[in-house]
Amino acid sequence: MLIDDASTKGTEDAGKPAENGSQPLVRRTFAIISHPDAGKTTLTEKLLYEGGAIREAGEVFAKGNRRRARSDWMAIEQRRGISVTSSVMTFENDGIRFNLLDTPGHEDFSEDTYRTLTAVDSAIMVIDAAKGIEAQTLKLFEVCRLRGIPIITFINKVDREGLSPFALLDEIGDKLALDTVPMSWPLGMGGMFRGIYSFEEKRAWLADKASNAPCPAAIAVTGLDDPALLAGTGMRAGDSSLDDAALAADAFPEFLPAAFQSGDMTPVYFGSALRNYGVSSLLAALMRHALPPQPQPALPEPIDPAADHVSGFVFKMQANMDPNHRDRVAFMRVCSGTLKRGMKLDNSRTGKKLGLHNPIFFLARDRAITEEALPGDIVGIPNHGTLRVGDTLSERGGIQFTGLPDFAPEILRRIRLNDPMKIKQMRRAMLDLAEEGIARVFRPLVGSNWIIGVVGALQLEVISTRSEAEYGLPIDFEATMYETARWLDIPDDALNKRFVAAQRANLAEDEGGALVFLARNAWELARTQKEWPDVRFLTVRERV
Ligand code: G4P
Repeated sequence: MLIDDASTKGTEDAGKPAENGSQPLVRRTFAIISHPDAGKTTLTEKLLYEGGAIREAGEVFAKGNRRRARSDWMAIEQRRGISVTSSVMTFENDGIRFNLLDTPGHEDFSEDTYRTLTAVDSAIMVIDAAKGIEAQTLKLFEVCRLRGIPIITFINKVDREGLSPFALLDEIGDKLALDTVPMSWPLGMGGMFRGIYSFEEKRAWLADKASNAPCPAAIAVTGLDDPALLAGTGMRAGDSSLDDAALAADAFPEFLPAAFQSGDMTPVYFGSALRNYGVSSLLAALMRHALPPQPQPALPEPIDPAADHVSGFVFKMQANMDPNHRDRVAFMRVCSGTLKRGMKLDNSRTGKKLGLHNPIFFLARDRAITEEALPGDIVGIPNHGTLRVGDTLSERGGIQFTGLPDFAPEILRRIRLNDPMKIKQMRRAMLDLAEEGIARVFRPLVGSNWIIGVVGALQLEVISTRSEAEYGLPIDFEATMYETARWLDIPDDALNKRFVAAQRANLAEDEGGALVFLARNAWELARTQKEWPDVRFLTVRERV
């Protein structure tokens, strides 16, 4: 299971671009996935702290904000002030630039999370030691697997009573069909927690049994029977957690970088984000094992990060991040080339050039104009509605990144406007929000009542809160006669014409002009599908 220097070095060097002066830093672009409450916020803070981005844990997410961050729609409001610090966080440590992309934990915002995951090269999966794998972790893991994103596992809260490490590793193996390799081991848990032993680093962090003090400096150890380890923990040879650690060292397979990179194996780190145990090992693991920028799926062919021309795609849009300026910021992942401030890039959707006058980097507490960005970096592009989620920007044109998903909304509502004179403004506001990716707007082919579609109910709250706060338009929602929506894939024009003529009353266009079938219920949808076997009714659509 131990990693020798050579294998570690191999993975590390693989990620390093040639040091030619303009590329001094390697990138690690990653996300943290977890079920709410597993400790993602705490871990993010501690990683920023370990990485030297903040001087004191607690600097980024003030306690009040953190508590409110429980419900992510409130977080959207709350974080408006600090969203620049939480959507993407960039920090540098030991010659590596880390780009940490925030993913909302609440399932109602999963669409946003799925899109964000298209922009990362690896992910940390945080698991609560007392709860094991929870529903949202499983869902997010599946998205990672679908996209081939390798996972580093962090089992958190070992300072509390939890499931046994073996049971947790078994659960990961069984539920996620992943080979697990413990890279560290908890020396006891809960009241018996005495520290973390790292097989990988041959170091240990020992807990003072008398207190809940934060993690002390590591000590070097020769093995599980090292006298310093025994003296520091008050344990004796033969104590069960030492025996378990020895057993684990023998029982699990060796860490294989290739198996990790193909998504078949996960290195597992134990720790306590709250008390900062295991966090430095996790940061080291990101440096050693997490993948450097990877080729990105695109048409006509995947784009290699080493390509000499600039390209990137917009995976997220955030409006009005600064309440004083009604700006919108598009988050773009740079996929190839060296992006320089002032460059003009081609937008493949509109065919127009866009000047990058003020590309932004998102630092832990701040945002700053950047002069240059490399593959793996995330830049913010302020704009007034010229960019949309899914847009490809490139120096040469003729490229379209693929794989950004849209999910058919599960909740459809009509908007009730308190002041009917403001219908135009309301439509503008809804289109803005749709372009951000928060909602879908459907314009029926027959009739004039627009329908709004969302994946989760909390999105409706976000829409009404933002409509009032940002556009001065108080709105309510009312039921529509439709229950579900499907995008359509119709193979030829003649069929398209016949289908539209026959189904006109049930059709709408979404905010991008794509045709959508609105069904009153599952039965109607099934019947229409049966009647039109050559038409595909899509629940997930790729933005191309
Ligand atoms: P989330 O972003 O994944 O939703 O989780 P968050 O970090 O907010 O953590 C959820 C709760 O778990 C918080 O407690 C946090 O302090 C606690 N926690 C996180 N990591 C650890 C750990 O390693 N050990 C222990 N014992 N607790 C941990 P809370 O009481 O709900 O909130 P707060 O008042 O502490 O902010």
